[in-house]
Amino acid sequence: MSLSQLIETSKEFAQAYYPLVALITTVIGFILGLRTGFWTRILRKIADFWRTDVRSLKSQNAELAEKLQRVRDAFDGDNNIWLRTPVIRPDRYSASLQSSIPILLVANLKGGVGKTTIAANLATYFERRKGERVLAIDLDHQGSLSSMLLPDDVQRTERPAEAVKSLIGGVGDAGIVSFAQRIPILHSRKDSLLIECDDAFGNYEMRLLLEWLIGDRSDDIRYNLACVLHSPDIQQNFDRVIIDAPPRMTPGLVNALCASTHLVVPFVLDILSAERVGLFLRTVRKMRGELFPYLELAAVVGTLKGDGTERLRETEEKALREAENGVSKTWGNGTYYVWRDVLIPRRQPIADAAGVGVDLAAVTTFEPLGQRLFDLTTRLQPAPSGPRPRSRIERAQGNRAYEGQLSS
Ligand SMILES: Nc1ncnc2c1ncn2[C@@H]1O[C@H](COP(=O)(O)OP(=O)(O)OP(=O)(O)O)[C@@H](O)[C@H]1O
Ligand SMILES: [Mg+2]
Repeated sequence: MSLSQLIETSKEFAQAYYPLVALITTVIGFILGLRTGFWTRILRKIADFWRTDVRSLKSQNAELAEKLQRVRDAFDGDNNIWLRTPVIRPDRYSASLQSSIPILLVANLKGGVGKTTIAANLATYFERRKGERVLAIDLDHQGSLSSMLLPDDVQRTERPAEAVKSLIGGVGDAGIVSFAQRIPILHSRKDSLLIECDDAFGNYEMRLLLEWLIGDRSDDIRYNLACVLHSPDIQQNFDRVIIDAPPRMTPGLVNALCASTHLVVPFVLDILSAERVGLFLRTVRKMRGELFPYLELAAVVGTLKGDGTERLRETEEKALREAENGVSKTWGNGTYYVWRDVLIPRRQPIADAAGVGVDLAAVTTFEPLGQRLFDLTTRLQPAPSGPRPRSRIERAQGNRAYEGQLSS
């Protein structure tokens, strides 16, 4: 049927059934009339949504895109995310560091060079041999230092690492560290404590870093540990802090660099490991100017020295020279910083104790290193007032009351 035929038929229908058509038209008109308010309201809602919600969604979207871009930029090319500005150092940062108890950081980005072994044995050495109250801090989520220093009953349980999270996350205070979460270190006869670490800390650090990069943190997360370690509570209750670093530039390690007074860099006496010393120190040096200008390099220490004799093998001699060159290029006089006279020998009892404890007899292996670090880092100053059993000046002058206790 064509269009004109359709129109004709409709006209005839309307003429024939005029009352019915009028009735249907009226009912439809009435319904539409009733619905007018409803449609008006819908239209108004759409307009409102467009005007307000879409606009705020657009601005939220722009904000998210900007945060995402900030994260992308942070990881771009050679960027060192840790040099991000502004740098907000804590009040009295320089004065606190310069009057601080020794805070020794054992670090190297190369893995398996003996950092944890040295940190655990030094903590035991300073506590038992020098009668110091040591605060040992494990910043590696592998928890190796914890495995070596935790008392046997705590060691094998899954641990949430709350204390270290609050230290690095900036929600802890010295009270939490020294008293609420106290875990005495293995073999401790003083009030030496361990801040232990476990897997849970790895995720926490990642989250902390992202929150800081996207600007969700108002504090400067690089100095959270410094704020706690430089507080009177820690300074008056401990004689020394020893920190075991992970082999990665994590929030924990950056905090440790900003909080520490001295850096100890172990390396294995082989070329592969010796080459990394200079590279590590170059990275630290770049960050030092902006972030932690008071950190001193204490020692670069060769570990796992070979065959049980005093003699250096040719490869070990080459490794030492390589490390000295690396230090000279990046920090200063390599022969001064690389301590040739305190090389740590490879010893079976040390390897056997890995991850389960510290062998008290084997701690003697670390005595020469411990003594040199003690001489270098212990400050000759009167002890502050308070309930300290012995003054630092006595210890620094070599009072021997605490010596000879290692194997007892
Ligand atoms: N003087 C030593 N004699 C024998 N074995 C040692 C000695 N020093 C370290 N080791 C062994 O070498 C391995 C690596 O040591 P350690 O865990 O201390 O290195 P690390 O630098 O802390 O490693 P990571 O980078 O993974 O944290 C361990 O199995 C440890 O027992
Ligand atoms: Mg380790």
